[in-house]
Amino acid sequence: MNKLIINNNPELPYAMEEALNSLRVNIGFLGKDIRKIMVISSTPNEGKSFVAMQLFRQFAQAGTKTVLIDADMRKSTMMDKYGMEVAGGEKIKGTSHVLAGDGDFNNAIYSTNIENGFILPNADNVVNPSMLLENNRFEELLNYAGENYRYTIVDSAPLDLVSDGERIGSLCDGAILVVRSGVTSKSMVRHSAMQLERAGCPLLGIVLNRVGSSKGKYYYGKKDSRYYVASK
Ligand SMILES: Nc1ncnc2c1ncn2[C@@H]1O[C@H](COP(=O)(O)OP(=O)(O)OP(=O)(O)O)[C@@H](O)[C@H]1O
Ligand SMILES: [Mg+2]
Repeated sequence: MNKLIINNNPELPYAMEEALNSLRVNIGFLGKDIRKIMVISSTPNEGKSFVAMQLFRQFAQAGTKTVLIDADMRKSTMMDKYGMEVAGGEKIKGTSHVLAGDGDFNNAIYSTNIENGFILPNADNVVNPSMLLENNRFEELLNYAGENYRYTIVDSAPLDLVSDGERIGSLCDGAILVVRSGVTSKSMVRHSAMQLERAGCPLLGIVLNRVGSSKGKYYYGKKDSRYYVASK
């Protein structure tokens, strides 16, 4: 297995780290049958990839063997954002290639410089990934991950315009819905919950993300921090 170096993973403010930590602990309480978790939102830019990455890191750092699968093959920016590269400079194939090809999943997934943390990044975005997600090979990938890792965290495209999230959710044990505070309306959140239900994907929790002020009892974090993560 090749090693992927995550060059850029800045430390988070204490309050945010704590909120993510409680999310991790609460997922642990859901029991051993919850293994494959999709991170989803109603609309773009709510913080799915951020939460997926941080939750993955938290699980791994807590000593739990975890794989992060980047299944947003439409406009993934994770590799650039976190400065991911393979030791030795080898070109990364990534999710879209793995699903389009017939190679071994084990060879496609990278170990990382986070102990117990494994990643299948997406290197090349594609115009219409629905075909790749609908293919049996995607189901086989998730089954493989579910059997070989305690947690599989799947980052995806938003629910609003495309059916990717419903397809991914139908193959996961549950979803974490990321809601951007003050931006996403209640009716959108309700609609997303309905879409997940229709896909047969239990809603495991909601992360209220980027909260600007400490108003409600479910909010955690420092009052003046720019971003704020809350979990429920
Ligand atoms: N709680 C947070 N604290 C700090 N930065 C955040 C937080 N949540 C999101 N961001 C930043 O906001 C931007 C958008 O977040 P992100 O890319 O995770 O959203 P997304 O839902 O995955 O978007 P897309 O739908 O395009 O995939 C990123 O630059 C990310 O680093
Ligand atoms: Mg994203």
